Amino acid sequence: MKALVLSGGKGTRLRPLTFTLAKQLIPVANRPILGYVLDQVRDAGIAEVGVIIAQETGNYVKDYVKDGSDWRMRVDYILQEPLGLAHAVKQARPFLGGSPFVMCLGDNLQGRGISNLVRRFEEEKLDCLILLKEVPDPQRFGIAVLDSGGRVTKLVEKPKEPPTNLAVVGTYLFSPKVHLAVDRIKPSWRNELEITDAIQEMINMGFRVKAEVLDSWWLDTGKKDDILTANQIVLDEYVRRDVRGNVEESTVEGRVIVSEGASVKGSRVRGPCVIGRAASIEGSFIGPYTSIGDSAQVVNSAI
Ligand code: TTP
Repeated sequence: MKALVLSGGKGTRLRPLTFTLAKQLIPVANRPILGYVLDQVRDAGIAEVGVIIAQETGNYVKDYVKDGSDWRMRVDYILQEPLGLAHAVKQARPFLGGSPFVMCLGDNLQGRGISNLVRRFEEEKLDCLILLKEVPDPQRFGIAVLDSGGRVTKLVEKPKEPPTNLAVVGTYLFSPKVHLAVDRIKPSWRNELEITDAIQEMINMGFRVKAEVLDSWWLDTGKKDDILTANQIVLDEYVRRDVRGNVEESTVEGRVIVSEGASVKGSRVRGPCVIGRAASIEGSFIGPYTSIGDSAQVVNSAI
């Protein structure tokens, strides 16, 4: 099993942030969202990872992920023009070879990780396993229709009259048969090779396409969720109390990370909250669901 992590794209929706940064690198609780995605790939025991990058932002991604050794994985970079998710699969073919793979979007994170999905995909010998999430506004998403056995019978992109409220979340598992489907689809009206079209083609070709409904949170910072929502969920989920910096005449309550080199003086900090490396907090109140970046200074303030 290999992994393909999509960190290219145009990022038009997150402008102007994405003029100077890849959207997968926007920090959530002081850490790029891509970092959490790679954690989940590593936790599923996958060590060979292809990272899709775009011309404009690829160097930022490379500076962060480097050779992947921080995650104990080997990373190959694959340059791609942003012509759709299925186009990324096509571009990655030399890297993927005949291997099954999990495809993750570098700006999407979900609360269940991918280990269980990989296990089910292998046990049931599937050709495609997608993750779905019930959403209140299905008109905005790719929507799946399932039969009683959990097989996907149809996918529709942004339907005006949604047949279900099950949106396709950015985690997909594929057998090498996906390449046969990708070769048969045509670009959509927005001139992209759509992954939903490729999966629909897999269904039409009679391949085994199943879905699992996610019973946890799903974040899409490139599209669906704002960065503050993501910050809140990630702080809630991942912060464990860990006070390494210097704390003087202060109260630090609950799940708070005070990173190395940080200093908290004459202040009150209430978790969940993260104080970055070498940050300085003086005479201040830092309330729940706050991320203070590395080297930031907060003086006589309440956040
Ligand atoms: P999207 O958010 O669907 O596309 P985009 O990055 O082009 O964004 P926008 O529509 O705001 O301009 O992409 C989902 C993820 O996949 C995101 O992390 C970027 C990545 N991606 C690629 O790597 N290659 C591609 O061709 C596309 C379309 C997206």
